[in-house]
Amino acid sequence: MSVVLGIETSCDETAAAVVDDTWRVRGSIVESSIDQHHHYGGVVPELAGRAHVTTIVPVVRAALAGAGLDLHRPAIDAVAVTAGPGLIGSLLVGLAAAKAYALAWDVPLLSVNHLEGHLFAPLLETPDLAWPVLTLLVSGGHTMLVYQRGPGEHEVIGETIDDAAGEAYDKVARWLGLGYPGGPPIDRLAGEGDAASLALPVSMTGEDLDFSFSGLKSAVVRAGEKRPDLARADIAAAFQRAAVEQLTRKLRRALERYEVAGVAIAGGVAANSALRASVAAIAAQYGIAAHVPSLAMCTDNAAMIAAAGISHLARGQRSDLAVSADPNWSLADVS
Ligand code: KG4
Ligand code: ZN
Repeated sequence: MSVVLGIETSCDETAAAVVDDTWRVRGSIVESSIDQHHHYGGVVPELAGRAHVTTIVPVVRAALAGAGLDLHRPAIDAVAVTAGPGLIGSLLVGLAAAKAYALAWDVPLLSVNHLEGHLFAPLLETPDLAWPVLTLLVSGGHTMLVYQRGPGEHEVIGETIDDAAGEAYDKVARWLGLGYPGGPPIDRLAGEGDAASLALPVSMTGEDLDFSFSGLKSAVVRAGEKRPDLARADIAAAFQRAAVEQLTRKLRRALERYEVAGVAIAGGVAANSALRASVAAIAAQYGIAAHVPSLAMCTDNAAMIAAAGISHLARGQRSDLAVSADPNWSLADVS
C-alpha cells in the first residue's frame, strides 16, 4: 500500500494531509490566514506567505499525528506538494518544506498542479466512482469544464475567456460591501432575495463550452447604480441566478457531446448552494451520478493534493528536487 503526504500552500490555506492508495484520508489539517485579509478585499500575498512560514511545520506535524505517524520517522512513500498555480511567495514556502521532508525521509517528491488536485476531490468521497466524469472546476482563479477518463486522465474542454466565476462573486461582493471572500455572503443573501427583481444577461449563450464572467459583473454594477432602490439581497439573488445559469447551461451542452457516468463539481465555488442543487438535478435528469463534494473538500485542502500524488506515484512520476514553483501553471500543460 502507498501512503502520501500532501502539502498545499497556494493561497491563504496552509494544509497538510495523509492519503493512501485506497483514497482514504488518514489525516487532514487546514489552517487559514483569511482573517488577516478580510479588510483588504482580497488575499494579500505578503501576509499569506509569512503566515505559511510559521504554520507549515505545526500543520504537517498535526496531519501526520492524525494519521498516527511521527514527524521524525513517518511511514510515508512520497511527499506531494502544490507547485502552481497560485501566489508565488506562498507556493515557495510549501515547496521548500516538501523538499526538506522528502530529503529528510528519503522519499520521492511529487510536484502537483493545484487544479489537478481539485479534480481528485470527488474521488476521496466516492472511491469507487464510475468513469468517465465531466467536472465543472470553479474556483477564485479558474472556471473550466474538464472531461476525465480516469484519475489523472483529463482534458480541458471549456474555459473562461476572462474572469473566473469565484472572481465575479468576489468583485460583486466587494461592490456590495460584503467583504472577502464574496461567495459565502452572496450565497446567503441570495436565499433572502428575489432574483426576478433585476434582469441580467446570461453571457456566452453560443455553442462553445467556454465561459465569461466579466460582463455579468459589470452588468450588476450598472444595474445597481441605475436602481439605488434595489435591496442587496435582490441584487445577490439576480447575480447568483445568472452566474449559475451560465455554468449549468454549458454543463448541459457538454453532456450532450460527451457520454459520461457522472458529473462532478470542484473548487471553491462548488460550495455554492444553488450550483450544488442545479448540478444534482441535471445529473438526475440524465440518469447519471452527481459528485457534489462536502464543503471542506470543495475549498482548498491538502487531501486532494496527496490524492493527485498517489496517482503520480502509481504512474512512476517523480519530480526533481530542483523543481520550482510556477504561479501560472496551466492544467492543460499537466502531462
Ligand atoms: O478553490 P478556492 O478555495 O481557491 C482557489 O483556488 O481559488 O476558491 C475560492 C473561491 C472564492 O472566489 C470564493 O468567493 C468562492 O470560491 N466561494 C464561493 C462560495 N464559497 C466560496 N462562491 C460562491 N458560492 C459559495 N458558497
Ligand atoms: Zn483552489
